[in-house]
Amino acid sequence: MSSIKSVLIDKETIQNMVRSLGERITGDYKGKELIMVGVLKGGFVFLADLIREIKIPVIVEFMSVSSYGSSTKSSGVVKIIKDLDVDIAGKHVLIVEDIIDTGLTLKYLKELLMARGPLSVKICSALDKPSRRKVDIAVDYKGIEIPDEFVIGYGLDYGERYRNLPDVCILDPEG
Ligand code: IMP
Ligand code: MG
Repeated sequence: MSSIKSVLIDKETIQNMVRSLGERITGDYKGKELIMVGVLKGGFVFLADLIREIKIPVIVEFMSVSSYGSSTKSSGVVKIIKDLDVDIAGKHVLIVEDIIDTGLTLKYLKELLMARGPLSVKICSALDKPSRRKVDIAVDYKGIEIPDEFVIGYGLDYGERYRNLPDVCILDPEG
């Protein structure tokens, strides 16, 4: 069993963060063709909110990778479960993630996509746990930095549950 210890980021704060990232992305990619790549499953809630704050045409794609299983510790193993449906050669790509923790997942994904000849690959993450980083990776569009706590909600799961919570909450593993 487990439950919620406390609310870390409420939905109004999340909404403001999403809006300001959307404005920045809109400005930065004006006149360019942008492919936004949501990382399943966790990134889908953030991606759904973010695309509606972006005022230029975008193409939405998804990739599914696994690095965690159902535990709270990174295995360091990244496996592609679902690849893109389109060719990204000559295109601008923005990877959209729920959280960057060790950075292993995004570093792997970015290198994989860079090898396909896009014009650019940038990273947008709703949450960032910088204290846990194991590899050096630039987060071009960063939402909110959080302390070293395991969080759930706003797309983030624990054992596939809690993705539907509207706030980002701290998990109480003993709950
Ligand atoms: P990284 O490769 O260690 O950066 O891990 C990234 C992935 O781990 C994220 O996309 C999440 O799926 C998962 N993850 C990392 N921290 C948390 C957390 O606090 N709660 C839920 N999932 C997490
Ligand atoms: Mg994820």
